[in-house]
Amino acid sequence: MGLSRIRLRSAQPPAGLDPPAEPESQPDSEPKSAPRAYRLQVVPAPRPELRLAEVPEAAVTARVIAFANQKGGVAKTTTTLNLGVALGERGKRVLLVDLDPQGNLTMSQGMNPDAIERSMFDVLVHRVPISDVIQTVEVDIAVASIDLAGAELALSALIGRERALDKALVEVRDRYDFILLDTPPSLGLLTINAFVAANGVIVPVQCEYLSLRGLVQLENTLAMVRENLNPDVRVEGIVPTMYDGRTLHAREAIEILEEHFGDLVFETRIRKTVRYAEAPVKGSSVLRYEPSGPAAQAYRDLAKEVLDGAEAREHA
Ligand SMILES: Nc1ncnc2c1ncn2[C@@H]1O[C@H](COP(=O)(O)OP(=O)(O)OP(=O)(O)O)[C@@H](O)[C@H]1O
Ligand SMILES: [Mg+2]
Repeated sequence: MGLSRIRLRSAQPPAGLDPPAEPESQPDSEPKSAPRAYRLQVVPAPRPELRLAEVPEAAVTARVIAFANQKGGVAKTTTTLNLGVALGERGKRVLLVDLDPQGNLTMSQGMNPDAIERSMFDVLVHRVPISDVIQTVEVDIAVASIDLAGAELALSALIGRERALDKALVEVRDRYDFILLDTPPSLGLLTINAFVAANGVIVPVQCEYLSLRGLVQLENTLAMVRENLNPDVRVEGIVPTMYDGRTLHAREAIEILEEHFGDLVFETRIRKTVRYAEAPVKGSSVLRYEPSGPAAQAYRDLAKEVLDGAEAREHA
């Protein structure tokens, strides 16, 4: 990816290629006006010299995580925002991307999706640079507006429709440590774009039996993306949300999750509390709304688990 931006300094023939002999000594050779061809010689290719401003592959740093579950209201947006702010508290550079036409993530940072001029719709469909739609509030956020609802239809007619987000992120991938993608409650083209751009997927799951059933469908969609578009993307964690430890039902739901997904289930339980609903009304994460409360602490704990996981992967 980054390599496409690397150019050689001199106009010498590429390493390993020799210019052909002069035409006079080769009666059958092409006329002088023809483009010069080079004969292949097997010599070790020296490393090309890079210009300082050019970006080698290693500078692509951001870990891109999609938050997905086609079931509505399971805390995808709440988790994207609060985990993002918690990672920011730990000194990480974080970009949140609102891929949901409902614009809840955008709203939860105090912006009105109806009053936004340019949004992720323009980025995905009209190829506007993503930096043009990034606002800085508690962390950076690429905003959504209601017109994003038309993005699936508009994208469906375009070649490379599943890669629009992946391409848009190239511009900013080396500016952030984490890019978190909030997806809508469906497995449509917007969510597929998130899966194609992502290194991993975190699935928030409400601690109820009925919430667990959709995970099979989500895994099937991911398998299809792996086969055709992004071979490395996987579920990297499942976050139990809206957990009420006083009910047997919630405890059983966690048991079932752990039985099926083992270590993929984060140890942090996001408990049920009205704080998570109150904070966005103030245009705030719960970490700013009530910094020392247990709701904020839960997402700090989750941030630690995510960071530990990212480090473990780096050293694997
Ligand atoms: N742990 C929690 N306890 C209680 N309420 C919560 C919790 N987490 C989120 N909520 C509330 O539940 C509602 C749904 O949360 P959220 O919008 O994050 O879900 P979502 O999965 O993004 O929904 P959608 O599928 O519509 O995008 C919101 O009102 C939110 O404030
Ligand atoms: Mg949401």
